Amino acid sequence: MTVDLAVHNCTVVTPAGRTPDAGVAVEDGTIVAVGRSDRLPDADRVLDGDGNVLVPGIVDCHIHNREPGLEYKEDWESATRAAAAGGVTTVVGMPNTDPVIDRPEHLELKFERGEDSAHVDFQSYVVVTSENLELIPDLDEAGALGYKIFLGSTVGDVPPPNDGEIIEAMEAIRETGKRLGFHEENGEIIDHYTERFQAEGRNDPIDHSHSRPVIAEREAVERMITFAEETGAKIHMYHVSSGSAAEAVARGKDRGVDVTAETTPHYLWFTEEVMREKGNPARIQPPIRNAEERETLWAVGMDGGAIDCIATDHAPHTPEEKMVDDPFGNTWDAISGFVGLETEIPVMLSFVADGRLTLEEWVRRHSARPAQVWGMYPQKGSLQVGTDADFTIVDSDREWTLESADELHSKNCVTPFVGESFTGKALTTVVRGEVVYADGEVVGESGHGTRVDVDGD
Ligand code: DOR
Ligand code: ZN
Repeated sequence: MTVDLAVHNCTVVTPAGRTPDAGVAVEDGTIVAVGRSDRLPDADRVLDGDGNVLVPGIVDCHIHNREPGLEYKEDWESATRAAAAGGVTTVVGMPNTDPVIDRPEHLELKFERGEDSAHVDFQSYVVVTSENLELIPDLDEAGALGYKIFLGSTVGDVPPPNDGEIIEAMEAIRETGKRLGFHEENGEIIDHYTERFQAEGRNDPIDHSHSRPVIAEREAVERMITFAEETGAKIHMYHVSSGSAAEAVARGKDRGVDVTAETTPHYLWFTEEVMREKGNPARIQPPIRNAEERETLWAVGMDGGAIDCIATDHAPHTPEEKMVDDPFGNTWDAISGFVGLETEIPVMLSFVADGRLTLEEWVRRHSARPAQVWGMYPQKGSLQVGTDADFTIVDSDREWTLESADELHSKNCVTPFVGESFTGKALTTVVRGEVVYADGEVVGESGHGTRVDVDGD
């Protein structure tokens, strides 16, 4: 039998272990064999992996693709172009667009736009507010991956439901079998400090960080875990930034609550000193924490297992919105968020090179686990025969420095990772058997990406 594509001469790494001199074979966009290169079937096209590492496609379950409505920042085409170039084969878009994704029609619009232009596969969350609680079953029917509530004010100003409504939302979402994720910052605490700091004239970028203290995050995690314990809902904590919040997640898991959590490369890499060094371009919500919190995030979150997934919170804004020309100007005039799709693999592989985590643990948190948490596994996040042929080839030894944001593929590329040096880079990205990125170029066709069907319809 001759198949469409075979990749030879890689070290294949999955959470279960690694196989040298190996590769994969693909037919009709599906994996048909994984194993030693010399035992793979003949193929019409053979790629030589050159001894590099091949992993199941990276799954980033937290990006802001900005479409519909905010295409001046980013759109499905540009976000998924960056994903392809970053070695990411599946992305999940956040609902704080314009309109917000709070009704089936808006979700359908978001899916249609993605079908038209995405380079990699995609899904979307829907937002829950006081206004759409009764639509929870319809949003499930419309094919949403999961639900999101913004507990504290952030970009898009989507107001949270009150605590009673959140409990009712959890009960309704439990019936769908899907998961509810949170932007977990206590709104009253952050609003209080924001107003107080502004009244006191505290305007530095680090003041923005301190206006959103760790207790705001920890309290929100603990309150949602308590509600989930009561309702039996499956919940998720997006972008856990502090060790204290990771400890709260660990306590919830110990109590048997179905709580999962993600952190991002920037919370593991930087400390809040980055606000003094780089200023407003590094502004993000929740903020980057001090060294002690980062060490606990590593110890409890990564080494201890409280953190399930790595995701970027890729959040593009224009250089003007990020105050790139005035990085230490009045921080209350700057917006929060920065891009991450093309630096997530380099950051995580740099930690591997430093011995802070194994390749297997990296793949588990960056591919298998996010797919499992959000119900896309094994179609996504595995190299099992019969599943989508999504994989990423990385050079785990490549040393390089991100010299300029111009090297990136988003519409707006502001990131505090400019000037940082890495060990590791994505070389080749394959989505359902199509090479979408190779030799430094996005080569796939816009529109190849498709919605990941989580309902089997
Ligand atoms: O910094 C952030 N930016 N935090 C969020 O919660 C939203 C995001 C955005 O949409 O820009
Ligand atoms: Zn986000």
